[in-house]
Amino acid sequence: MGKNIKYGYTKIVNLDAGKRLADNLSNLYNNDLNVIVYNFVDMLSHARTEMEVLKELADFDFSAIPQLNKQRVLDLARGEYINKAEPIILVGQPGLGKSHVASGLALAACRQCHRVRFYNAAALVNELSLAREQQRLPKFLATALRQQLIVLDELGFIPFSTTDAQLMFQFCSTLHERVALIITTNLKFADWTQVFGSEQLTAALLDRLTFKAHILEFIGESFRFRQRMQQQDQSA
Ligand SMILES: Nc1ncnc2c1ncn2[C@@H]1O[C@H](COP(=O)(O)OP(=O)(O)OP(=O)(O)O)[C@@H](O)[C@H]1O
Ligand SMILES: [Mg+2]
Repeated sequence: MGKNIKYGYTKIVNLDAGKRLADNLSNLYNNDLNVIVYNFVDMLSHARTEMEVLKELADFDFSAIPQLNKQRVLDLARGEYINKAEPIILVGQPGLGKSHVASGLALAACRQCHRVRFYNAAALVNELSLAREQQRLPKFLATALRQQLIVLDELGFIPFSTTDAQLMFQFCSTLHERVALIITTNLKFADWTQVFGSEQLTAALLDRLTFKAHILEFIGESFRFRQRMQQQDQSA
């Protein structure tokens, strides 16, 4: 664990956002600093890029998306859903801040000393597939079960092959009611069959995921698009 922490510090402080995070860590003396740093490092090493997960709720402008209930998000950040292993589904069009909020919730969970992993959904399916090929799927699932929160970012961006859909289903149903899951997706529930293929499997998956889920809908105009427009206006 010591080695991981050292490596993680090096990796984190190379990034501007990481520097801010490392600074923030010094304010956390009421928690076990080592556990928190270890959790950050562990989470980051499973994200596609570090930048994806270094977004704080404190940097989220809730006024930009009034339909999203700020208090509800802040309540969730207190982490009770993690103790109850409840899912959170963040659904909506691109650029509305789903990954940002998922990351903010994941960082909050790390600070509460929870074991967290952040996966891009497509990358996770590749990992699951490789684990199965190498006959280590049971071990992979056992490791997932040792986490307290798993984030699946960008579920449904890319349609799954039949085998991949089955693997994702197996992963989610293994975690069901045992590990909290945060999912970000552009997919409306009615469209999940298009990505997962089988109607039966999709129904079974949604039944598990939406049972006790906190569903946050993101509606509005893309933050990325709005920023681009503002930049254009300023340079005109
Ligand atoms: N309300 C907001 N306040 C501050 N930054 C925001 C807000 N909404 C989005 N952003 C920023 O805009 C960018 C896009 O947001 P994000 O990646 O979270 O969107 P998304 O909903 O996950 O989009 P996609 O569906 O394409 O993955 C990020 O850099 C994010 O930090
Ligand atoms: Mg996203």
